[in-house]
Amino acid sequence: MNGETRATAVAHVNVALVKYWGKRDAELVIPWTSSLSMTLDAFYTTTSVRFVAEPGDDEVVLNGAPVTGVPRQRVTAFLDLVRTRTGRTGKALVDSENTVPTGAGLASSSSGFAALALAASSACGVELDATALSRLARRGSGSASRSVFGGFALWHAGHDDESSYAEPVESPGFDPVMVVALVDTAHKSVNSRDAMRRTVETSPLFRPWADSAPADLKEMRAAVERADLDAVGEITERNALGMHATMLAARPAVRYFAPATVSALDAVLALRRAGISAYATMDAGPNVKVLCRRADADAVAEAVHAAAGCPTAVAGAGPAARLLVAP
Ligand code: DP6
Repeated sequence: MNGETRATAVAHVNVALVKYWGKRDAELVIPWTSSLSMTLDAFYTTTSVRFVAEPGDDEVVLNGAPVTGVPRQRVTAFLDLVRTRTGRTGKALVDSENTVPTGAGLASSSSGFAALALAASSACGVELDATALSRLARRGSGSASRSVFGGFALWHAGHDDESSYAEPVESPGFDPVMVVALVDTAHKSVNSRDAMRRTVETSPLFRPWADSAPADLKEMRAAVERADLDAVGEITERNALGMHATMLAARPAVRYFAPATVSALDAVLALRRAGISAYATMDAGPNVKVLCRRADADAVAEAVHAAAGCPTAVAGAGPAARLLVAP
C-alpha cells in the first residue's frame, strides 16, 4: 500500500500497581518482571497518523509543537517497525495531543505508544487483535502494552516477542480512584529508560526487588479480582516503595522524590491513621498517585493538597484504546 492513508486513535494512561522496572532485552522490550496496572479515565493521548506516498523524514508533532531529538527518534524507530511489518512505504506525519503533562512521571509514554501503535497499524491497513496490538505497543514503550486495555491489565513478562503481552484482569464492581498529586509537571531530569538501565546494571537492590515481584503479582491479581481495596493498596504501596529503593541504591542514585513528594506520602499515612483507606504509588517522577475509594476522593485530594501544596486530579478506571477515525 503506498497511497495516502490515515487513522486516529486514543489511548489512556495506565498506572502500575505492581511495577515494571528493568528490561531483560532492551531491543524487544522484554521486562524482568510481570506487572499489573489500572488504566485511568482522566488522562489520555489522541494520535493521528497520516502516511503519504513521498519518501522523507517522518514529521512528529506533540501538543502543537514539533518533536525533535531522542523522543522523535523513538517514534521514527517505531514507525520503521510498523513499515517493515506491513510493507507500507512513504513518510508519516504524526500529530499527537496529550491531556497529561509529558515526561513528568505521569506515564505519558504508556498512552502515547498505545495510541501510536493503534493509529499507525490501522493507517497501514492492518487490523491487529488486542494481544498483537499489546505486543506492538510494547516495542514503543513497555508500559504501553497495558494501555491497550481498560480497567486492570496484567503484562506477562514472557521471554520473547511472542510471549510478552498484556491482557485484561476482570474485577466486577471494583471502582477505586487515583488522586494524582501533581507535585511537579516539569520534564524530569533522568528519563525512565536511562534510570531503569542504570538500576538494573548497578543497584544491589534490584535483584531482590525483582525476585519479590512474582509474589506481589500473585497477591495483587487475587486482590483485584476480589475487589479488595486494602489488599490492593498495601501491595501497591510496598511494591512502589521497593522499586524506588532499587533506584536510590543505583550508582549514581536515581532519586525522583521531591520535598512535596514526601509531604504527600506523610498525608497518606495520616489519612490511614484516621481510618481512610489511602495508599500511595509513584513512578519515574515526583508525582504521587493515591489509590482510595471513590467516596473518599474529595477528602484525600484535600489532605494531599494541604500537605503538598500542589494541584490534584481525580481519575477512575478508564477505557481501552480505540480508533476514532478509521482509514
Ligand atoms: C515506573 O514504560 O516508560 O512507570 O519501556 O523504557 O519506555 P520504557 O519504560 P516505561 O516505564 C514505566 C516505568 C514505570 C512503572 C510502570 O509503568 O510499570
